[in-house]
Amino acid sequence: MELPRITDNTELRGKRVLVRASLNVPIENGVVQNAFRLESVLPTLRFLREAGARTVVMGHIGRDPKETLEPVCAALEKDIHIAWHGGPLTGAIAAAAEALADGDMMMVENVRSAPGETENDEAFAKLLASFGDIYVNDAFADSHRAHASIVGVPRFLPSYAGITFAKECEELGKAFEPQTPSLFLLGGAKFETKLPLIERFAGFYTHAFVGGALANDIWKAQGLRIGRSKVSDIDLSGAPLARDERLLLPTDVTVADERANARITTPDDVRDDEIIYDAGPKTVAMLAPLIAEAKTIVWNGPLGYFEGGYDAYTKECATLIAKSAAHSIIGGGDTVSAIEPLGLNDRFGFVSTGGGAMLVFLEKGTLPGIDALRGSK
Ligand code: 3PG
Repeated sequence: MELPRITDNTELRGKRVLVRASLNVPIENGVVQNAFRLESVLPTLRFLREAGARTVVMGHIGRDPKETLEPVCAALEKDIHIAWHGGPLTGAIAAAAEALADGDMMMVENVRSAPGETENDEAFAKLLASFGDIYVNDAFADSHRAHASIVGVPRFLPSYAGITFAKECEELGKAFEPQTPSLFLLGGAKFETKLPLIERFAGFYTHAFVGGALANDIWKAQGLRIGRSKVSDIDLSGAPLARDERLLLPTDVTVADERANARITTPDDVRDDEIIYDAGPKTVAMLAPLIAEAKTIVWNGPLGYFEGGYDAYTKECATLIAKSAAHSIIGGGDTVSAIEPLGLNDRFGFVSTGGGAMLVFLEKGTLPGIDALRGSK
């Protein structure tokens, strides 16, 4: 994918570079719980420091405009020297950026603290653009949002892809040209957002597996009783996909009742008082040879309710993929959180920072943030 890249820019000394980063990380009691996204922006920040740029880092955290990025800055500070410049986003930041020494950097407050961000308000985009002479998008995970800091700023500044952003586009682009045999695995919830993706990939991957809560929607549409299991806001009863024989589904499930009595059974044997929480060992045994023979594997979304401790089969699946010779492309915030404790990230072909952004990219082949860079000033 042809993109203007910041690494092709050789004249950065003394320039103010405004970086949009993926800073939306889980925080508990003021402490960042998972730094994967922060680690992913370090190559771009180190490059800018070496090049002598005066860097302003911006991003969002959560959905509440009152949330602050201060703990995120503190977490990033452990890996690279970066000053916190809190407070409202005003024109004073432009002068503060000018006053930075060459190679220094600072982080400003949550861009969603201002309503103009999500509304992609032009005046707000111009204000953000005044913080830099050059814009860099290294926030692939947020680039499915047509917000001011993603698509507005490139209208006013020369704009480039950051190092991780460019890598995401390149690596996820490989999913469109899978080597045969190929395997597509989709889990998690929210069928409504994943339906077009399943339709697309079931058509050209050798095997397509749908697990997690997504499988509940299919079983429900097929008339199976799924007890009190989680379902999406979509009714698949008339959809051809619910009976599409190309789709592989879990062959066994882990269920539990209100008293947390868990058992493993088949999908057609779920009692009315039970909830399906995970796949089972036979499902992983079914997937094992497909994983072993695959040359390309794309996986987004856990196989079970991992936040509630039902992570066994997601982890088994991850371990098989890590051992396989396939080029594997893995993403989704939940998937990455579920498998990170295994310490296997460097055994996968590529781990995406994107959750929703990965899904939209795989469905459409582009994102609003990519289009904005291509059409930038
Ligand atoms: C994500 O976490 O998927 C991205 O940071 C986007 O966040 P959002 O869903 O709040 O826009």
